[in-house]
Amino acid sequence: MNTEKKILEMAKDLKPYIINKRREFHMHPELKYEEKRTSAIIYKELISLGYEINKVANTGIIGTLKGNGSKIIALRADMDALPINETTGKSYASKIEGKMHACGHDGHIAMLLGAAKIISSMRKNLNGTVKLVFQPAEEGGWGAEKVVNSGLLNDVDAVFGMHLWVDLPSGAIGIKEGALMASVDSFKINIKGNGGHAAEPEKTFDPIVALIDMVNAYQKIISREISTFEPAILSITSINSGNTFNVVPENASMTGTVRAVDLDTRNFIIKRMEEITKGYAQAMRCEAKFDLFAKPSMPVINNKKLALFAKSIFPIIGNIVEPKITMIGEDFSFYAKKAKTLFLFLGIRNEEKGIVFPHHHPKFDIDEDILDKGSAMHSIFTYRYLKDF
Ligand code: NI
Repeated sequence: MNTEKKILEMAKDLKPYIINKRREFHMHPELKYEEKRTSAIIYKELISLGYEINKVANTGIIGTLKGNGSKIIALRADMDALPINETTGKSYASKIEGKMHACGHDGHIAMLLGAAKIISSMRKNLNGTVKLVFQPAEEGGWGAEKVVNSGLLNDVDAVFGMHLWVDLPSGAIGIKEGALMASVDSFKINIKGNGGHAAEPEKTFDPIVALIDMVNAYQKIISREISTFEPAILSITSINSGNTFNVVPENASMTGTVRAVDLDTRNFIIKRMEEITKGYAQAMRCEAKFDLFAKPSMPVINNKKLALFAKSIFPIIGNIVEPKITMIGEDFSFYAKKAKTLFLFLGIRNEEKGIVFPHHHPKFDIDEDILDKGSAMHSIFTYRYLKDF
């Protein structure tokens, strides 16, 4: 039997273990940088399999296994849950009020633990070193940046990761060359006007009117200044001003997000927002300040050679499909600062089982039947990358 087939059989045998671990994590979700219990379980598993352990990014863990050869590959799973109250009613539902694994990161950890077992059992056949990265705080915590800044991946040639994906049918493997996920920016705009009586607007500079004009003008960047073939989104998600009916307030503010898959497009949108904010404020005799209040995360862009390589080695595991670009972001993009990267989607949508709810929904669930495929993907990619890439 060839090595790939052996890996597939091992993964199948490990299915009960993988599902059991997924449920364990699902019942005990932990938010970003609080993944202590999760991390302790991972630590115990990796130590028992002979991995060398490094703690990273507060609550993260990197397990290293040295084979024979100089190449080094990293496999990444994110660990954090979300502040959502689960309403699936499943037997393995979250036991913690207000917290839930609603993105599938519980499955990511379980799949990588399954792979940890397979990879350690084939250590003698590995032409290089493997680093298993259990990363905290993907959900807006920039955990990946902390892992990268730790320097523990400085010697790595390639980083491989995947996301369970409800937009793909169960077991389908979504591989895309180039851009896959969007950049994420968060902005805040403060407008200072001149308040007064609502019955005497001529004595005020109304910041609410200026704000509304700005909101409309921003949307025209997307609809009038960017090609329809270039994915880009600008959403205003909060507006605040005033507190009564007969006063023109002094201030108004809003927040929102910009998403794009091309960096030049992202930079252009931000530049135009700054110009519009300044120009409209001036025109309406107000002052305005445009700020990016959180660190941007860059688009996830797959290395073409790695994507083609994955397309050639994964048909033994499942159906290869081309996923659509998503405007959701992923801090996996930070790993591209250090190494070649490949990020895939593994389908979990199963209409018969009612597994159809989107990521971050209180009824989100995953089709556990395919989790062993994820472990096989990590293991086969590692084995073949070190041997043949
Ligand atoms: Ni996620």
